[in-house]
This record gives sequence, structure tokens and C-alpha cells, in this order.
Amino acid sequence: MSETPRDTLLEVRDLVLRFGGVVAVDGLNMSVHAGEIVSVIGPNGAGKTSAFNCISGFYRANSGSIRFLGQSILRRQPSTITKMGMARTFQNLRLFKEMSILDNVKTGAHYRMKQHWFDALLHTPAYGKSERECEDDARYWLDFVGFKGDTSMYVTALPYGEQRRVEIARALMTKPRVLMLDEPAAGLNHSEKQGLIELIRRIQALGISIVLIEHDMGLVMDISERIIVLNYGKEIADGTPDEIRNDPLVVEAYLGTDEDEEDAE
Ligand SMILES: Nc1ncnc2c1ncn2[C@@H]1O[C@H](COP(=O)(O)OP(=O)(O)OP(=O)(O)O)[C@@H](O)[C@H]1O
Ligand SMILES: [Mg+2]
Repeated sequence: MSETPRDTLLEVRDLVLRFGGVVAVDGLNMSVHAGEIVSVIGPNGAGKTSAFNCISGFYRANSGSIRFLGQSILRRQPSTITKMGMARTFQNLRLFKEMSILDNVKTGAHYRMKQHWFDALLHTPAYGKSERECEDDARYWLDFVGFKGDTSMYVTALPYGEQRRVEIARALMTKPRVLMLDEPAAGLNHSEKQGLIELIRRIQALGISIVLIEHDMGLVMDISERIIVLNYGKEIADGTPDEIRNDPLVVEAYLGTDEDEEDAE
């Protein structure tokens, strides 16, 4: 990576997203710097997933600006944004149920493959090579996320926590600069959570910035360099774990009421 650690990769300004009368995101400002782990927290319905959906191109914001690597991505398609270097996982897993574990991960490469349609149709040497490379990459990332097992099984045969790892492997296949994870610890047991923390740190060590939506406060406080707190679609705090822990607004909006909350999904 050529950028310095403090370079801003992603910058969101005055972002607004409405669903009818509901203002899901209400003038959000946030930025993500090179190589950092930043968490986005807030009560249920605070607008965390909606913000991710706008940033990754799945929802079109009503107003505001989103710049990624110096370019506006406000009106870009999700696939274009992925190609530019932003990957994500979903609060409710979005794996292809009818496909194997390996094939699910391989789909992550399709965003960056440059081969022509006739290579695929005619199975030219170029196609064979890129297919082989794609499969090697997929196995590499499955190994990286700690998946051990038969990759030819249907992905739905795996326990939930393992499916989450497969989804992260698929996201890594796209060679992201920024990886956004929407509640990756939901449904994981204690030791799986420890494994996730270790995995996120190894991803950061690759130079990838991580943006994490998470309800598990132990995990968030442990891993985050910076925490952004949303409430009713607005950013109410942005600081280090210690600053957030002691911020009265945050305690009132979130920690005071939802401390013992279990992950809803
Ligand atoms: N597709 C949609 N259509 C209508 N309203 C929506 C839609 N998606 C989200 N909302 C509303 O927008 C608000 C923000 O929801 P969002 O899912 O972004 O919150 P969240 O912070 O991710 O919550 P959670 O922690 O429960 O996942 C909520 O009031 C929600 O009901
Ligand atoms: Mg959500």
C-alpha cells in the first residue's frame, strides 16, 4: 500500500436516506482511514446497515456525498464499488445456497476477472488459466479465514459461524482496500468470537481497513481503534474506545439501555 496510515480512503458527508417518513440515515458524517479498524455501533434501528447499504451502492442516498479513494461513488453500482476496492458482508448472510463452499468464494473473483466472454465459452487456454488461478485464490482465502473441511459441500451444510467465515473469504477474494462487516459476531459462541477477533487483526495486517458494525461491546472495545456511534441516523460520537465508554451521550443512547442485548439476527 502506498498511502500513509492516516490517509482517508472513505469519506461520507451529510448522508441522508429516507424510507417514506422514516429517516434511516440523517446527515451522517464519517471517514475511514488507511489500515484502521473502525466500528459503527448504535441501538437497533440506528441506521447502521442502511449507511452500509448506501456506501456499498445497494441503496441510493437521498442526499449527501460519499467519496472513496478520491472519487464520488454516490451513484455507482455495487459491482463497480466492489471493483474499486470495497467489499462487504451482510447482516443476514447472502451466500448462494445452491452452490458449494468453493464456488461461493470463487464468485468473489468475478468482479476483477478481465477475461472475454468467448474465453469462457470456448474454454480457451486463457480461460483455463484464470479458472485455475481463481480456484487457487479461493482455496488460499478459505485457508486464510481458517476454514478446514470439504470445500465441495453445499455452503448451507455448514454451521452459521462457518458460513460467516466463507462470506469473509468471498469478500477477501475481491482484493479490497476497505472491508465492511455487518455484525460478523452475531450468533457466534465465545471461542468463535475470539477466532473472529484474531482473523480481523490478520486482515488488518494485510493493509486492509476494516469497518465493523457490531453489537458485541466486548469485541468492539477490544478490537477498535476508533468507534463511531449512531443514534436515530445521526453520528452522536466518534472516538477511541475509552472516549466512547465515558461519553454520557453514548451511555444514555446506547450502553445504558442495550448493554445486555443479545444479537437480534
Ligand atoms: N428496506 C427498508 N424499508 C423501510 N425501512 C427500512 C428499510 N431498511 C431499514 N429501514 C428502517 O430504517 C431504520 C434503520 O434501520 P437499519 O437496519 O439501518 O438499522 P441498524 O442500525 O442496522 O439496526 P440493527 O442493529 O437492528 O441491525 C429503521 O427504522 C428501519 O426500520
Ligand atoms: Mg443492521
